[in-house]
Amino acid sequence: MKILDNVKDGFTEDGVIMPFSTAKGLTVQVPSEIESYFKHVTGREDDEKSDIRTISVLQHDRVITYVFIELEDVSALTKRELFLSLAKAFTACKKQGLKNISLRLDNVFTETVDADLLVQLLEAAFLADYEFKKYKSNATESRIESVNLVFDRADLEGLIEEAEALAAGTMVARDLVNEPSMYMTPEQLAKDALSLGEQYQLEVEILDEKQIERFHMNAFLAVARGSINKPRLIVMRYRGNTASEENICLVGKGITFDSGGYSLKPTASLPTMHADMAGAAAVIGAMETIARLKLKKNVIAVIPACENRISEDAYLPGHVLTSMSGKTIEVISTDAEGRLVLADAITYALREEGADAIIDIATLTGGARHALGDKTAAYLTNDETLSDLAKEASSISSEKAWQLPLDQELKPAIKSIVADVKNSALGANVGGSTILGALFLEAFVENKPWLHLDIASVAWSSTGLPYSPKGATGFGVNLLYQMIKHAN
Ligand code: BES
Ligand code: ZN
Ligand code: ZN
Repeated sequence: MKILDNVKDGFTEDGVIMPFSTAKGLTVQVPSEIESYFKHVTGREDDEKSDIRTISVLQHDRVITYVFIELEDVSALTKRELFLSLAKAFTACKKQGLKNISLRLDNVFTETVDADLLVQLLEAAFLADYEFKKYKSNATESRIESVNLVFDRADLEGLIEEAEALAAGTMVARDLVNEPSMYMTPEQLAKDALSLGEQYQLEVEILDEKQIERFHMNAFLAVARGSINKPRLIVMRYRGNTASEENICLVGKGITFDSGGYSLKPTASLPTMHADMAGAAAVIGAMETIARLKLKKNVIAVIPACENRISEDAYLPGHVLTSMSGKTIEVISTDAEGRLVLADAITYALREEGADAIIDIATLTGGARHALGDKTAAYLTNDETLSDLAKEASSISSEKAWQLPLDQELKPAIKSIVADVKNSALGANVGGSTILGALFLEAFVENKPWLHLDIASVAWSSTGLPYSPKGATGFGVNLLYQMIKHAN
């Protein structure tokens, strides 16, 4: 799909997306053929509220389908609300098999509209068009070919480019997460990171098990031990600001399958556990977006990738691990494996990559869903600047995130008798599993500015969303990109 910048002549549309505002009356120009229909369905109090309506008409020997989006007061709507409406309209176009669509943003916005909002709305077009049909034997793809943006503004080209790069990063993340685990092994994830690196001039280094051993990443290695698919540590380096030595590290949880290990998960939880590398996927997707848009920042991605499985050699509850940091960890649950691999990855980022700040992203706790529901990610941080940055990033992008407290009063729940810390508060009965996961990670950040994003409830949608079919959502790419873009 491509977005065209306000092509005036020669665009043969088969669909027209017509947003209009009911608050300001019917200012929108509709073709005479459908004027009476339009008057009939709009402004009716008794009508079933439906924000999207379509009607097809014959105009100059061609059938054109109009997709009306009824918006109340446009200026009172949030970016997210507008993004959802646009995504619904594009989904409607797709369902009707429309290929070349005019997007009449001139109906509802003036030239001074917020640039980030425009980017979001254009991104909705790409995201709603996404499909993952690799494993369907009789799949027919029905992609949108082009969208003509009917809107006058000088900087549209740059905004289209940003939307396209953001969507591309999100779709890379979706593809990686949607792949089943017999394909998406740690080795494959590393290969994909390498080929992305080649495409966008990122330096990519892959460490295999032997090299990981040399760094004494024993918490990471313990999780990986139970599988014949050996671990990889993926490091991607982007230097957008050679004048500076400062760098931000993005650390992504890359569990390509989480069985829970000996603390085995219940049957119903297992089928989607190939998605437990969604943090890693978001980081890889964000690196693509960052590199494509040439942000003037230095960003390093560190991704511990492995499987959490059961075998004769797998780690067990009660084991004590000596992490790369030197801190010892008592394993209470082999299902709290994400924080183990992240602990070592954080130490690696600090000590080997000289991270000045760390943002980690992970499908860490099922409890995130209880705290915030399945549309909003949780973040926790030891640093006010990063907290403000996450809030700003969330308000700019259409990805919702909300801060939870790093409540030190809960910390005794992960105190261990035999080791420095334990990986689960099993039995302590304090609740707050998302907070406890973050408190565990905090023990490894050596007081450096750090922010943890828990995306367990938002990375996968079993119902599908206006901007994402059932499956991986690619959540996090937008947030990470905006955080890097707006960091000082
Ligand atoms: N990968 C899971 C978290 C998860 C749950 C992701 C549901 C996506 C959907 C993680 O490794 C896990 O099992 N966490 C445990 C931690 C507990 C044992 C301390 C959890 O949240 O129950
Ligand atoms: Zn787990
Ligand atoms: Zn997990």
